[in-house]
Amino acid sequence: MARHINDLIASRRAVLGGLAGFSLLDLAGCASPQGAASGAIGAGEGFVSIAATNADTVSLPPGYSWRKLIAWGDALFEGMEAAPNLDALTRADQERRFGQNNDMLALFAADYAYPPPKTQDRMILCANNEYITPDLAYPSLRSLRDLTAEQIEATFAAIGVSVVDLARDDAAWRVVKSTSTTGRNRRITPFTPVVFSGPAANHPWIVAASVIVNSSEPAGPGSNAPPNAVRCGTLANCAGGLTPWGTYLTAEENFDGLFVGSLPTGLLLEEPALALDASSFGYPGFGFVDKTPRQFGIAQNPHGPSLYGWVVEIDPYDPTSTPKKRTALGRKKNECATTALTRDGRVAVYMGDDQRDEHIYKFVTRGRFDPADRAANMDLLDDGQLYVARLEEDGSGGWIAINAAAADAAAEAEGSPIRFRDEADALVRVRDAARLLGATPMDRPEDIEALQDENLLGLGPVLIACTNNNERGFAHPGNPRRDNPDRPNAAQNNLAGHILRFDEAGGDCGATSFTWDIFVMGGDPDAERPTGRTRGGGAPAFVSTTYEGEQTASGARFACPDNMFIDSSHRVWIATDGSDFVFEDCNDCVLMTPVASERPRPLKRFLVGPVGSEICGPIMAPDERAFFCAIQHPGANNVAGVDYSTLRWSGEPPTSHFPDGGNSWPRSAVVIVTRDDGGPIA
Ligand code: FEO
Ligand code: CA
Ligand code: CA
Repeated sequence: MARHINDLIASRRAVLGGLAGFSLLDLAGCASPQGAASGAIGAGEGFVSIAATNADTVSLPPGYSWRKLIAWGDALFEGMEAAPNLDALTRADQERRFGQNNDMLALFAADYAYPPPKTQDRMILCANNEYITPDLAYPSLRSLRDLTAEQIEATFAAIGVSVVDLARDDAAWRVVKSTSTTGRNRRITPFTPVVFSGPAANHPWIVAASVIVNSSEPAGPGSNAPPNAVRCGTLANCAGGLTPWGTYLTAEENFDGLFVGSLPTGLLLEEPALALDASSFGYPGFGFVDKTPRQFGIAQNPHGPSLYGWVVEIDPYDPTSTPKKRTALGRKKNECATTALTRDGRVAVYMGDDQRDEHIYKFVTRGRFDPADRAANMDLLDDGQLYVARLEEDGSGGWIAINAAAADAAAEAEGSPIRFRDEADALVRVRDAARLLGATPMDRPEDIEALQDENLLGLGPVLIACTNNNERGFAHPGNPRRDNPDRPNAAQNNLAGHILRFDEAGGDCGATSFTWDIFVMGGDPDAERPTGRTRGGGAPAFVSTTYEGEQTASGARFACPDNMFIDSSHRVWIATDGSDFVFEDCNDCVLMTPVASERPRPLKRFLVGPVGSEICGPIMAPDERAFFCAIQHPGANNVAGVDYSTLRWSGEPPTSHFPDGGNSWPRSAVVIVTRDDGGPIA
């Protein structure tokens, strides 16, 4: 059993003081480009925190308005019907339309420049399209059994990435459709040719699966993809990142459920590593094997899952470019891939592996970013060192290098039969290597954001959203359990999640050690006893926001932090996913607090999404006069928390009509929030 966290206060504070030499608060204050901490809330933060609501719309403070930028199925090319016929959607049609379930958003200046320009009237938007469920597709469908193979193929084409040109006229951002000869709009789907790059590109699992994919999905006429391309595209695209050289990193997360069927028993006996991999990631999922594209049948393509779980680099400036899967960054359920420059000009990439008790990773390139030569940076992510985080109970921590020989030795020492053939094997099965090397199990690490200056130099503080852990357990360092007065010393879950803060040693994102602290606990600042109930039939949960006896939060309550965005004044905007399952009076929302605020940190609620949605991809235009976010899966559940998949097939109407209103079918959409007076968002 882990020591109770309260026993550790004294030793941990000593280490924090000793290592950092000054308080964490001071460091953030120094890091602000304005040279000052943002200070107490209410002074210059510009908006009134809004009340909890279950309204089926985007709710905002007075003086702010939203509008839809683009939604699932909207046309990306001239000459197409603007709005989709969702019942008739085909793969070919969907490949030219915006994808479903938008998650991460990234904005690139229309013409690449470093550092990124502060004002722009033309931008490129990259959006992840994470997944699709039949429950929210094909409005006229009456039974899952009636789904056809063509319809299932079209739903696969609704996931991946959408690249969209944007223009601003009269202060309003709009989509610019491409033509056959102009524009950069494109869809990258699970059928798009990609190239595997880096140390694990020729891993035997990847090679075996690539042959099957390419025979199932022949190259189209006139394909300009390189000969080593694999037509497995990308899928389960959650969050991601932007590189200083103007490429998009899309992070593949829950790929497991897209493979259906059964793994051949004989093969599992032959390859215990594959059995371990399947049990770690949880594949295969459930589905109609006979109607699913052949390469996603696990019996036909047992190594297919090795093609996913990567960070994929896309050049949004060249619509003919082939995306590259950067195997040096390791294979896991990547939530994000956030970059920051190190003090010596290398590039750090932070990644959370979003599954209970998985880990936090950082990759640091061997080479340095060259601001004067974009092309010279294009393969920086193929060569470097991957690390995994180990947090100590005293508040210190280290980045452990992923190394096949060391992982092998650790396996032998613990009497495990796990072995790694080489570095490639340790990257494909990096979860096993990380665990053996002593990585700290985390409460589902989701988005990670590093404080940066305007030149994208990392300043040292790094925030990590740990969304929740719904299994009972005892605290791991950095993953505290609440001191439930009704159940002292009992195993507990972490239903409301928390945000963790690392401070990289020397304020350098290239460092191999850090200190950690709890930035804020999710929950209800007023909670003294477990809440009466939570949605989904869960046991009453204790959702106090105190940590080590200290209140960490004040103001609006929230749970399940997921995506974050840090603006130029170093305020963090926190989007939630599943907050409505803890606090049923409010749909998922966006909250804001200054990074340099003191505990209890003042949390203001800026935006509440429509019924059944999670909020993703918070980001601002470079001049910070437009706030963008992705409304994902509106209508996935009703206000009572019942999943629409259990309502739809008995004929219940959709639980949300976002964004089109009336009796319309719900669609995920990117929305833009502006201030009515045209001023800066906050
Ligand atoms: Fe796709 Fe972990 O959220
Ligand atoms: Ca997420
Ligand atoms: Ca999530």
